[in-house]
Amino acid sequence: MRTHYCGQADAGLVDHDAVFCGWVDTRRDHGGVVFLDLRDHTGVVQIVVEPDNAAAYAAMAGASYEWCLRVAGRVRRRLAPNPRIATGDYEVLARDVQVLNAARDLPFALHEPTNEDTRLAQRHLDLRRPDMQHNLRTRTRLVQALRHWLDARGFQDMETPILTKATPEGARDFLVPARMHAGEFYALPQSPQLFKQLLMIAGFDRYYQIARCFRDEALRADRQLEFTQLDMEFAFVDEHAVQATVEQMIREVFKAVADIALVEPFPRMGWLEAMRRYGSDKPDLRIALELVDIADVVRHSEFKVFSEWAAAVDGRVVALRIPGGATLTRKAIDECAAHASKFGAKGLAWMKVDDPARGREGVTSPIAKFLDDATLAAIIEATDARGGDALLFGAGPFRIASEFMGALRIKLGHDLGLVENAWRPLWVTDFPMFEWDVEAKRYVALHHPFTAPKVDDAAALRADPANALSRGYDMVLNGNEIGGGSIRIHRPEMQRAVFDLLGMPPEEYEAKFGFLLRALGHGAPPHGGIAFGIDRLAALLAGVDSIREVIAFPKTTRAQCLLTGAPSPVPDEQLAELHVSVRPE
Ligand code: AMO
Ligand code: AMP
Repeated sequence: MRTHYCGQADAGLVDHDAVFCGWVDTRRDHGGVVFLDLRDHTGVVQIVVEPDNAAAYAAMAGASYEWCLRVAGRVRRRLAPNPRIATGDYEVLARDVQVLNAARDLPFALHEPTNEDTRLAQRHLDLRRPDMQHNLRTRTRLVQALRHWLDARGFQDMETPILTKATPEGARDFLVPARMHAGEFYALPQSPQLFKQLLMIAGFDRYYQIARCFRDEALRADRQLEFTQLDMEFAFVDEHAVQATVEQMIREVFKAVADIALVEPFPRMGWLEAMRRYGSDKPDLRIALELVDIADVVRHSEFKVFSEWAAAVDGRVVALRIPGGATLTRKAIDECAAHASKFGAKGLAWMKVDDPARGREGVTSPIAKFLDDATLAAIIEATDARGGDALLFGAGPFRIASEFMGALRIKLGHDLGLVENAWRPLWVTDFPMFEWDVEAKRYVALHHPFTAPKVDDAAALRADPANALSRGYDMVLNGNEIGGGSIRIHRPEMQRAVFDLLGMPPEEYEAKFGFLLRALGHGAPPHGGIAFGIDRLAALLAGVDSIREVIAFPKTTRAQCLLTGAPSPVPDEQLAELHVSVRPE
């Protein structure tokens, strides 16, 4: 049907006949001559249709944006080259034009900015756009590079079930009713976690899978209901071996796919330090702003919000210095407060520092009246505030105060243009093993419940769970958690201790995870691994802000596919067959 792609028109083709197929990207009519840009996935080429070629000219009559054409003609040099396109020195004088298909009632112009819902509802058109072609091809090259790297090193690519039992990663499960077993359900995997551990117990040594995972959780720019992991597991390793291997893989793949050089080795930081300095377990190191603890200097202040949280066992009072922030308007500060409240802030105190040397006279702040001179001076000293700076203050439970101040650090870093143009990878390690869930009144696992604690002794773990650290690790790049993993528990008594500490009754864990406990008791080797978010890696490599830009058919933040209309109701007979009845809302 065709001899060349549109992007292949070059000097070697001049004065040769060639056949191109593609879509009409633009059309201009000039003094009776029709000029088309014909587009395929390789680029565009200009087609010239002259009126004296009556048949071709007639075929072109209605051809407009996105019509699908086959054009045969002679390649020649252009009189007026267009340096902005790769084939801009050449054009094709059409001999024969066939309309392969018309395109009518286009819902949007591909060249113009269009709202995302419209794009997603007509994704086949949206994906024709060169930037989407580029994004998805970048994703393909990423996966190819990863496979190439892993295959060369003896990792075995293995599939694991999609219809399975719950594999907890902290989200809700998607359930599939079992027609053959009334009232019973399969769960879709939140990750292949337990199966990959079983493969290590089975002696496969090194496994990987490009695995689809399903999590029924709130969607955001970096989260989808179904997403793709590069899932990996290794037997007979410790965390240093896993980290060294996958760090090298990421470095080589970033170089190969996007010519990005990442430092060697990646810096590492404990979870507590990350929370303290950056208010996040995935700090964006491109932003130089840091949080400063001021509990010690406000402990005796009149301002109750500060003094009470400074005294609370798990409280935190923290300041963020914004260099030059004195120019922030009242509206900008209100926006910060609104942003912080989304992360649980009950308020946001602030101070503009005009001249630190003048003490009380040199600052503007709604809370200055609650602070005595010494406290005020101590805050300025602790934060190293200079004339023209602003200080923002957060007080609350450690986790909440850290996170809302961390969110402000990111917001202001972007708003004020303080984001360095660089690639800043990082390992975050030394996570707490457990976190106390105030509402559920029990511990929850910070990673998943199969993560090994640093103490290799179940009795010691039971004795002091609150202070236990885990052998988990996350890989972070520019503020994105791109991968997470751990060394696993490989002995049944430790696994039981963790289930117990999570408040799970033995009947429940024997029923849910009996297969794992049995397997751990059959000579399970020490093992560990990691999973990377392919969507997030692809988005970083393609330079886009949302993973929806690197997924061909993503769902909206309302968990819908606008193209197909999923989810959708199903006929009663189908429900009956599945032994399911729907309760009205
Ligand atoms: P974790 O839950 O950290 O670990 O997931 C690993 C990586 O997957 C990506 N990711 C997501 N990407 C898009 N949408 C989502 N909803 C989503 N959730 C997670 C992130 C994350 O770092 N079984 C463990 C891995 C292990 O321990 O080996 C796991 O799934 O980039
Ligand atoms: P209030 O006395 O509650 O009106 O608060 C006085 C100032 O402190 C206001 O600017 C509030 O936004 C701020 N504030 C209140 N609660 C907190 C908090 N938990 N952290 C930081 N600032 C707060």
